[in-house]
Amino acid sequence: MTERNKWVEKLLQWFDRTGRALPWREQKPRNPYHVWVSEIMLQQTRVDTVKTYFTEWMRRFPTIDALARAPEEEVLRLWQGLGYYSRARNLHRAAREVLLQWGGTLPRTREALRTLPGIGDYTAGAICSMAFGQKTPAVDGNLLRVLARLYALDEDVLSLAGRRKITGLAEKVIPAARPGDFNEALMDLGALICIPLNPHCDQCPLAAYCQGFQQHRASELPVRKKKAPQKEFHAVCLLVQQENAILLHKRPDKGLLASLWELPTFLAPEKNDCLLLARENFGTFGDVPLWCHKHVFSHQIWYMEAYEAETPAFPLDASYRWVAADELSALPLSGPCQRFFQDLREKRAGGKNKR
Ligand code: ADE
Repeated sequence: MTERNKWVEKLLQWFDRTGRALPWREQKPRNPYHVWVSEIMLQQTRVDTVKTYFTEWMRRFPTIDALARAPEEEVLRLWQGLGYYSRARNLHRAAREVLLQWGGTLPRTREALRTLPGIGDYTAGAICSMAFGQKTPAVDGNLLRVLARLYALDEDVLSLAGRRKITGLAEKVIPAARPGDFNEALMDLGALICIPLNPHCDQCPLAAYCQGFQQHRASELPVRKKKAPQKEFHAVCLLVQQENAILLHKRPDKGLLASLWELPTFLAPEKNDCLLLARENFGTFGDVPLWCHKHVFSHQIWYMEAYEAETPAFPLDASYRWVAADELSALPLSGPCQRFFQDLREKRAGGKNKR
């Protein structure tokens, strides 16, 4: 260990003492499929939430083969609640590809992994280091933040140049003996100590090596340019019921919430345009919404209202389906639609409890 990367030794000692016991870290040596699935689940989701989903997933799809052979609707149903469903769809597609092209075993190189749907630089780096012991950094927000502070870097970490610089630093110091532990130690340090706001520098095993800390500006780092504001839309949804069934619509297989089921929904920048579109298709309906909700996605905000409406006169194509109330939980519903049914159930239960 050279003087320059002494911090790596300290980091690994800290990880040995304090590293989190997590379900996907249990098998030693690490199971590549477990590393892969957990990394995909963890991309936009908190560790605590992922723990239960991961365990349930492995119970239902214990191998790449089991996942590849499952129907897509079942895969999406198990994913329900994790959001960003393209991750589940890509996992499923990639499992099929691994079965067909790689005999059911994940390929061992970063380049080959990157050809699979949903596997980018970060995930390939994580799999190669944790499952195959290769010296590949897994460059995520944690690694960028910790290294930007450690080396007091002023480059924008979201820029290509900033990212390249930090990746280069990580490649220089990643230890050949424990590359996966190095990456996971940085994740744990970033999640527990070197957190984005008000980092706990007083508890940090690397404080003695951290230039950001020594310059009293750890909490100002890393430098990030502001991202573009989210686009705002209005959405009018229609609750159409016939006997015990509700009319649902399957979204197109590309784009936001692809292939998920929702109430028939009309989206536009102006609320009046949504209402016009909805009335053009479904005829007149009342003015009083049954439900109002603001749904925040990463790049969009939807101001949503739901109204009760009648069965439309136009013939319903295959993207529509009458769904019995007790079948709703068997379909992969969009996040806003899940929220609608949850709020409706709560409203009805509340109404019953009132005298
Ligand atoms: N976040 C992303 N990958 C992780 C991992 N392997 N362990 C803990 N948190 C993570």
